[in-house]
Amino acid sequence: MMTPEQNFMRKIEAEEKIEPKDWMPEAYRQNLIRQISQHAHSEVIGMQPEGNWITRAPSLRRKAVLLSKVQDEGGHGLYLYSATETLGVKRADLIAAMQSGEAKYASIFNYPTQTWADIGAIGWLVDGAAIVNQISLQRTSYGPYSRAMIRICKEESFHQRQGYELMIALAHGSPAQKAMAQDALNRFYWPALMMFGPHDAESAHSAKSMTWKIKRETNDDLRQKFIDQTVPQIEFLGLVHPDQDLKWNAERGHYDSGEIDWKEFYNVINGNGHCNRQRVEHHIRAHEEGAWVRDAMTAYNAKQRAKTTE
Ligand code: ACO
Repeated sequence: MMTPEQNFMRKIEAEEKIEPKDWMPEAYRQNLIRQISQHAHSEVIGMQPEGNWITRAPSLRRKAVLLSKVQDEGGHGLYLYSATETLGVKRADLIAAMQSGEAKYASIFNYPTQTWADIGAIGWLVDGAAIVNQISLQRTSYGPYSRAMIRICKEESFHQRQGYELMIALAHGSPAQKAMAQDALNRFYWPALMMFGPHDAESAHSAKSMTWKIKRETNDDLRQKFIDQTVPQIEFLGLVHPDQDLKWNAERGHYDSGEIDWKEFYNVINGNGHCNRQRVEHHIRAHEEGAWVRDAMTAYNAKQRAKTTE
């Protein structure tokens, strides 16, 4: 007769998904709550840097694309909050933890969007990095998270393509447009690499998350994939690679790259990036202004429930 813990590990090893009502170690549950909720916060906070350009998109087509992309990110946040709630936590508590700074969200969203080219760079590099990570997470061991990832990856792939298409238009456009594209690449390349988290040796949660198959590939392995896939994309754009130490390593079959500025990374994740304060303040304001919508929905649902039980 197996103990619940042995049965849990048997399922993990057999690639069976863990579902909300299954027994799971408390540390597995807590680690999932931490990761999935931070992922949800990232999707929602990620609406802000791009939302900043909706009113200034240069054509109706670009505006419609950006509007729908930002809306998708809000949707991703909702699936992920729902997936987190299956672990027995309340969404309101998760949001409060993000607003108080106790829970993190992706560092990348603390950088400002200064020019229209930044919208292209975000779609291409930020959503591109997110896809590399999320394709791997489609095979995560927790059922609701894995299923959310499958749908999210389909939408992210549209986001990545619209960003790259925007970069092509600029990089193959006038000299001023090309310079704008290069500047956006220079500013977003390194922060995009930071999205994969610290080096494996510094990553507090990786070992446990890999054993439990919450994570299927390590931070460094995923980052390497992204570095390798981005090189020909930069070449096609005709732009200069921001990493001057980048070199093909035939022995490894991968590019070797320069070191990330880890001081900057830790500064940003500890609340001291360019826009940390602004992002959280904006979230709090929007959340307070939207309280009446939540109240109205709760009242409506209560009335509907009362009608069906009458
Ligand atoms: N931004 C902010 N915080 C980060 C980042 C980052 N780029 N990378 C690591 N951290 C945090 C971790 O959340 C953790 O903090 P905590 O202990 O307070 O929770 C700490 O740094 C240590 O890092 P790790 O031990 O490596 O953490 P983890 O195993 O969770 O790996 C990773 C980090 C790779 C981001 C993982 O959580 C993950 O894959 N998350 C799901 C994907 C995701 O959240 N994507 C968000 C951006 S995509 C988008 O929104 C478009």
